[in-house]
Amino acid sequence: GSHPQYEFIQVTEPRPGVGQITLNRPKSLNALSTPLITELNTALSSLQSSPTTRTILLTGSPRAFAAGADIKEMAPLTFSSAYLTSFIESWSNLTHTLKKPLIAAVSGHALGGGCELALMADILYCTKTANFGQPEIKLGTIPGAGGSQRLTRAVGKAKAMELILTGKSFSGEEAEKWGVAARSFGSWEELMEESLKTAETIAGYSKVAVQAAKEVVNKSQELGLRDGVEFERRVFHALFGSEDQKEGMGAFAEKRRAEWKDR
Ligand code: CAA
Repeated sequence: GSHPQYEFIQVTEPRPGVGQITLNRPKSLNALSTPLITELNTALSSLQSSPTTRTILLTGSPRAFAAGADIKEMAPLTFSSAYLTSFIESWSNLTHTLKKPLIAAVSGHALGGGCELALMADILYCTKTANFGQPEIKLGTIPGAGGSQRLTRAVGKAKAMELILTGKSFSGEEAEKWGVAARSFGSWEELMEESLKTAETIAGYSKVAVQAAKEVVNKSQELGLRDGVEFERRVFHALFGSEDQKEGMGAFAEKRRAEWKDR
């Protein structure tokens, strides 16, 4: 059901094991104000600790995933106030401590902080007409929630420089072509249906294996190849200590469906 404690987001469980967070500040195209980010942090950590949630889906409206950090909130900030309150730092908590897979379903605008939030997801799906971009340069500033780092890793330096220095937006179709999005879809309905299907697929696997898979892929973004492969092997070895590895391989041999125990 819906959680009345939230003003700017909605939290639902559209399918078993799937927790959905819908950004819901329609009058400002889901601009990511500090109160909204606080709610998002609360919702993500409560879904992380919920024993029934296995996958998390983050979305907005057909018109806007999120049109960025809240410009009206930022306009009067000074260096000292931003520095002393560590403005935007709490955004890093959103995904750094999240161990369950996060799928972002993006339709409409995903600009500035909205693009950066989408880039934090483990799997990004979008509509072909989604409008991504880092327009901060037009406001006399720069991306502040990881855009210069994550977008550059996703599209390479040449394209990232062009996008961040010109502030030009790119479509969901381009996002897919450039490897920013895993897939793009022709309509909102198709986007949501396919996002839920993927969320359900992942929710159907062993929690232990899913968490390990996410962890090792994320390590590839931090480590060199040799250390990354080493890390992967350590985790792979560790999974021989799980009951679900015995169950998964046993079920294969016995030609039956695996029944995961999350152990
Ligand atoms: N912050 C605060 N309010 C915003 C907003 C934002 N990022 N984006 C849109 N809104 C508000 C508008 O001010 C408007 O409010 P009012 O009705 O009170 O005037 C309402 O949302 C609807 O927006 P528009 O009338 O502009 O709608 P549109 O369809 O004509 O244009 C848009 C849509 C192209 C997305 C346009 O709203 C826009 O350019 N928004 C700003 C995008 C942007 O620059 N984002 C980057 C922010 S900086 C940042 O995110 C820093 C960081 O890295 C963390």
